[in-house]
Amino acid sequence: MTKAAAAAMGSIRHPNLWPPFTQMASAANSQRVVSGEGALLIREQGEPLIDAISSWWVTLHGHAHPVLAKAIADQAARLEQVIFADFTHEPAEQLAVRLSGLCGLQRLFFSDNGSTAVEVALKIACQWWANRGQPRYQIVAFDGAYHGDTFGAMAVGERNLFSAPFEDKLFPVARVPWPTTWWDDDAVEAKESAALEVLERVLETPTAAVILEPLLQGAGGMAMVRPEFLRQVETRTRQAGALLIADEVLTGFGRCGDWFASRRAGIRPDLMALSKGLTGGCLPMGVTMASEAVFEAFVGDDPCLTLWHGHSFTANPLGCAAANASLDLLERNPAAFQQFEQRHRPHLERLARHRKVQHPRLTGTVAGFDLVVEGSSGYLNPAGPKLKRLAMENGVFLRPLGQVVYLLPPLCISDAQLERCYSVLEKALDQL
Ligand SMILES: Cc1ncc(COP(=O)(O)O)c(C=O)c1O
Repeated sequence: MTKAAAAAMGSIRHPNLWPPFTQMASAANSQRVVSGEGALLIREQGEPLIDAISSWWVTLHGHAHPVLAKAIADQAARLEQVIFADFTHEPAEQLAVRLSGLCGLQRLFFSDNGSTAVEVALKIACQWWANRGQPRYQIVAFDGAYHGDTFGAMAVGERNLFSAPFEDKLFPVARVPWPTTWWDDDAVEAKESAALEVLERVLETPTAAVILEPLLQGAGGMAMVRPEFLRQVETRTRQAGALLIADEVLTGFGRCGDWFASRRAGIRPDLMALSKGLTGGCLPMGVTMASEAVFEAFVGDDPCLTLWHGHSFTANPLGCAAANASLDLLERNPAAFQQFEQRHRPHLERLARHRKVQHPRLTGTVAGFDLVVEGSSGYLNPAGPKLKRLAMENGVFLRPLGQVVYLLPPLCISDAQLERCYSVLEKALDQL
C-alpha cells in the first residue's frame, strides 16, 4: 500500500514506535484512535469500532468512563505520587481493605502490571520457604499457561515462540497438563484424571508453589477448566504442603462471572496476582495479595527475612484512586458481571451450529471457540488474522489467538452492540 493510501485509511507506521507482539515486516499499519466511548473506539478515520476484547482484556467498564476519569483527575490534583517505602496514603489503604475483604487474603503488595504481580507472587513463595528455614525449589505450572513476559513469569509460562530466545535463562518448572474443556466434552473426566495423576507425581518432589490461572487460561487459548478440577488441584497442593498461587490478572474483577475466578471455583489460594481490570483498565497497576500466614514469615529481626522488592511507582495514588472507583462501580452493579454469561449464551449457542466452529465455551464475560482450520493449530495459524480483518471491516475489533476466537467485551457493551459482534462474526465465518 502506498503511503498516501495508508494515510487515507487513517493508518500509520510510525518511525519511532516499536509496537508489542508485532512483526513489522508483515504487520498491517496501526490505526490512530482519538477517543473511546463505552464499548467503542473512535478512530481518526473510519467508523467507530466495537472493542470486543476490552483492549487486551483490561477495559472493564468501558472507555473514557466519567466516574474513573473524575476519580483520577481529582486524585491528580491532590497527590499524584509519593514514595511508598516511607509513606502511605488513603487511596492505597482503602484499596487494601477492600481487596482483602473481597478476596480473603489480608496483605496487599503493589507493583506495576500483571507480569510483575506474578513475579512478586513467585518471589514471595520461594522466599517464604527460605525464611522458614526449609527451602523448597520446585515450582509447578500448567501446560499452555501464560503469566507474562518478564523472566520469572516467562519461566512459569508455556515455553514457545515467545520465550525461545531466552530458554537458557529460564528456571526449570514441573509441568502438568491443563484439561481444557468445552460444551458437550465427553472426554473431560479422563483428561482431568490424567492431569491429576501427573500432578500427584510431580508433587512427590518438595514443591514451593503451584501456579495456575483459575477457570480460564487466557493467552493459552481461552482454555477453560471445570471448578471440580481446580478443587482437586487445591486438595493435592495442600496435601503436598505447597503454596497455591492464583494468577487472576485476567480472571479477576468479574471476568469469570464472580469477583474472582477462585471464588467461583471454590478454591482458596495463598497468593493472588491481580492487574488488568484492577483499575477498571485505566491505569497500569498490579497487586499481589498474600495470606497473613505467608506475610508473617517475612517479619522478624533478621534483615534477610525482608521482601527486598519494590517499584518506583508502588501504590501510585492515581492507580489506587482508579481502582477504588472501579470497585465502586462493580459493587454498585454486580449483576453486570454476574449475569453476563446469560447475555452471551443464546448467541454462542447459535454460532456453535456453524460448520466452522468447534469447542464452544463460556465463562462469565468470556465466550470462545476454535475455528475448524486447515494446517497446524496455534498462535500463527493465518485464519485468525483473516477473521480479524473481516470483522474490522464490519466495525468490530477482535484479536483471535491463532484459531481461537473469543469475545471478551467491556461490561458496558449494549445488547445491540453484543448482537452486532456475533452477527459480524457469523458473517466473517461464512467468508473465511
Ligand atoms: C493470566 C495473565 N497473567 C499475567 C499477564 C501479564 O500481564 P501484563 O501484560 O500486564 O504484564 C497476563 C497478560 O495477558 C495474563 O493474561
